[in-house]
Amino acid sequence: MTGHAAAVRTIPTVSTWPVLGCLPDLIRRKESFWTDIHRAHGDIVHLDLGVTGLVAVSHPRHAHHVLIENARNYVDKGGPTGFRATLLPLTGQGLSTIDVEDEHWRSRRDLIGPAFRQGALKAMTDHMAQLVEQHTAAWPTAQDGAEPGLDVVPPVTTAVTTALAELLYGAPINDHEIGQVSRAFEQIMNYMWVGMLASAVPPWAPFPGRRRQRQAIGVIENVVRDVVARRGPARSARAPELVDILSAAERQLDAEGLRDEAVSLLLGAEPLAISVSWALHLLARHQDAQHAARTEVDKVLAGRCPRFEDLAALPYLRMVLKEALRLCPPTYWVQRRAARDDVIDGVAVPAGTNVVVLIHRIHTHPDVWEAPEHFDPERFAPERAKLRHRQAWIPFGSGRRGCVAREFSMTLGHLILAQTLQRYEFSPHPRRTPRLTVAANLRPRAGVWLTARRRAAG
Ligand code: HEM
Repeated sequence: MTGHAAAVRTIPTVSTWPVLGCLPDLIRRKESFWTDIHRAHGDIVHLDLGVTGLVAVSHPRHAHHVLIENARNYVDKGGPTGFRATLLPLTGQGLSTIDVEDEHWRSRRDLIGPAFRQGALKAMTDHMAQLVEQHTAAWPTAQDGAEPGLDVVPPVTTAVTTALAELLYGAPINDHEIGQVSRAFEQIMNYMWVGMLASAVPPWAPFPGRRRQRQAIGVIENVVRDVVARRGPARSARAPELVDILSAAERQLDAEGLRDEAVSLLLGAEPLAISVSWALHLLARHQDAQHAARTEVDKVLAGRCPRFEDLAALPYLRMVLKEALRLCPPTYWVQRRAARDDVIDGVAVPAGTNVVVLIHRIHTHPDVWEAPEHFDPERFAPERAKLRHRQAWIPFGSGRRGCVAREFSMTLGHLILAQTLQRYEFSPHPRRTPRLTVAANLRPRAGVWLTARRRAAG
């Protein structure tokens, strides 16, 4: 139960190291960190992070309280030592980091939101499918001598980023630039926890990793600037919707605002690429599910390029993507700061507390998920899904700050899965088992390796 009326109880503070609290475990990305804490202390816990602290919550009803019911009390994304502060130099006043209390947030959301809605999606899906077709046609397969395997993260990232750049900016982005953005973003995310420590030190003072962090941000800025500068006149004819965001934004935003938005949106490629790669990994490990998904794809598409209307006829594949997003939500948590004193589940949360909603823990909470560690796309069958707590599956966040590109991401992910299953058969890599690791987000450590074989009719 949540809210002010509940009796206040105390919760454990987890602190493994003197002065630094749990930060060293997080910086080292100790893999069992969150599961150990949850097992030992339950759904709600206070973490000592040295320079700061936070309350971590792990039940769907907590997500409902923080992100929906009492959302007005949970404002920016974590105050001066939170993630928002460490992301600000990268995305500035872009939609993803702008403070919800800021009057500009609503106008930005209104500016960008419509471009991702259903009507716009319908119009851009054919273009997306053609781009995916080009970028999934020639993956290295076992037959090509690419034995023993393929790390699917780079080609999936290329397909996603190319589609995003073309649809957002109406401009091509090349493989070299995609590699640069991926590496720089990885470095930025890996630095997040150290960044929390760094935020307690003045920006002009030297701090380990700070210079490399600034360089990584510079790399992304340069790529985005170059890509945006390449926009050509033919773009509106092909995919007017998303490109129009930038054109409208150019009229409404100054150069800095435009840069912040362009960077913010392009970085959406990363979580999507991880989710699709992970879905392919799960399909490689579960041949029965792969067979069911491919049978569906072959029946509906019969070898042709998908169209928007086809996606509704591929429900099983959408359930596979949802299950991958449940087991591997690339955004591991969302963070907020309490504006006023509150009580969550009987626990006092004083004003100024950083609160994190642990998406991954919610996605595996035994109160709502049966056999939570098992891969089972059928849990998303409508008749089963409708019985579940509405906040039990929140990979895209929830409430007013939920992901602006949720349906866009589901559509692009759906297309990539359909178009790769048309062409390839996937099996696990004989030696490399992909592992997930929690940095600031959930990402595969050292790639997602599979064996891909080209299908005879593909
Ligand atoms: C599987 C893919 C994706 C996942 C799992 C994901 C996840 C999320 C989550 C959890 C949030 C909420 C953060 C919070 O509440 O603090 C969010 C917000 C956001 N996402 Fe995504 N995202 C994905 C793809 C994308 C893409 C492709 C784009 C851009 C094209 C994008 C742009 C944004 C923006 C701009 C926001 C901020 C919205 C606001 O605060 O009003 N995301 N995303």
